[in-house]
Amino acid sequence: MHVNRKLAAVAASAAALSLVLSACAAGSTPGDKPSLRTHEDVTVYTWWASGVEKQGLDKLAEVFEQQHPGITFVNDGVMGGGGSSTSKEYLQTRLETQDPPDTFAAHAGAELDDYIEGGFIQDLTPLYKKLGLKEVFPKSLMDQLKTQDGKIYSVPSNIHRANLLWANPAVLEKHGLDTSGQYEDLDSFIADLETLKQAGVEYPLSVANEWPQVHLLETVLLGELGAEAYDGLWDGTTDWNGPEVTAALEDYKQLLSFSNPTRNEMEWDAASTMVVEGKSAFNIMGDWALPVYAAEGRQYGKDYVVVPSPGTNGVFDFLADSFTMSTGILDEDAARAWLETVSSKEGQLEFNRIKGSIPARTDVDPGQFNEYQKTAFESFNNDPIVSSVAHGAAVPVSQLTKITAAAVAFEKDGDVAKLQAALAASAG
Ligand code: BGC
Repeated sequence: MHVNRKLAAVAASAAALSLVLSACAAGSTPGDKPSLRTHEDVTVYTWWASGVEKQGLDKLAEVFEQQHPGITFVNDGVMGGGGSSTSKEYLQTRLETQDPPDTFAAHAGAELDDYIEGGFIQDLTPLYKKLGLKEVFPKSLMDQLKTQDGKIYSVPSNIHRANLLWANPAVLEKHGLDTSGQYEDLDSFIADLETLKQAGVEYPLSVANEWPQVHLLETVLLGELGAEAYDGLWDGTTDWNGPEVTAALEDYKQLLSFSNPTRNEMEWDAASTMVVEGKSAFNIMGDWALPVYAAEGRQYGKDYVVVPSPGTNGVFDFLADSFTMSTGILDEDAARAWLETVSSKEGQLEFNRIKGSIPARTDVDPGQFNEYQKTAFESFNNDPIVSSVAHGAAVPVSQLTKITAAAVAFEKDGDVAKLQAALAASAG
């Protein structure tokens, strides 16, 4: 049950209500208000509000209700793929006004820092212990999840790969280009975009609004700088003002020039659809786009190809969706039950088969996943892993907000020097 409705239910007793409110404000402690727990439902906030993403969430909810028949799943989410600034602001307001969902999705890694600092989410280390989760998630992921003091604040549902180029082989073949979509570097990719444009493909690369532009920028930085120097951008060891960054930003500018002018009004999935429909040859997007491509029996390797984005072969640009437990909620047991399903073998299997990602657990059989996903298992287990910036793994929300603002401004003015200075400043 939603916290406000719950408070209404106990409004008859003003004394009880004030007790609850003071407990909420202080952050709740398991076991301190047994008489008010209903365990009737769990409110779950995500931005998987429509289309293929909602299908994954619905499946997870189905598994939840099978595993915990006494608790109802309540979809408490909002539109705004990728945790767009609007959806993040909405969540922030709810947290600040002490109207939190019981649990909310956020990216594992630095994105959680601001929520932890603000006291909005609870330490889940005891739950990890109880469910034996430290043993079932890979070390690389556990390193992302642990704070400096060794605590863990979220349970990952999946692992997504961000550095992917999706291509329509029929469009490439028609114009005499290699249909594999593989590019060793950005220069050769840009050369093919030019060829396509000259041949009359008006917008060879499809691009969408806001965070998808940051996503594109991150893959260009990775492609140009390589894994180590890309990592250095987020830990301060790579100079934002260096010539390699300038070269990457020049490439990024060129890529935008080959894209649809409608990009600011377009959501990520509509940009994927442009490739599916042959209006564009390419799109750079994470593997949550898989269901868009795999719809209506389209075949991997034949009707669409997906490969590491230009210059990033052999690197896994990582992000993970994860679920938290808010402070100040009345149904901690229900929230824990949700987290248990999220972490369960069955939950991870069913959810990820639909979502396009791979399970965070290491004990789910890769044989149960599709051909693209098998390549993701392979790369995640063998390649160097870097953290996605657009999807909260590399930097806290506050820094990402500045980076996004810089990308939005650049889309309008195309000023490379200004973008580079703004990116450098975002780190400070
Ligand atoms: C999330 C994915 C989601 C995608 C598009 C990413 O940031 O991690 O789960 O599908 O954004 O909304």
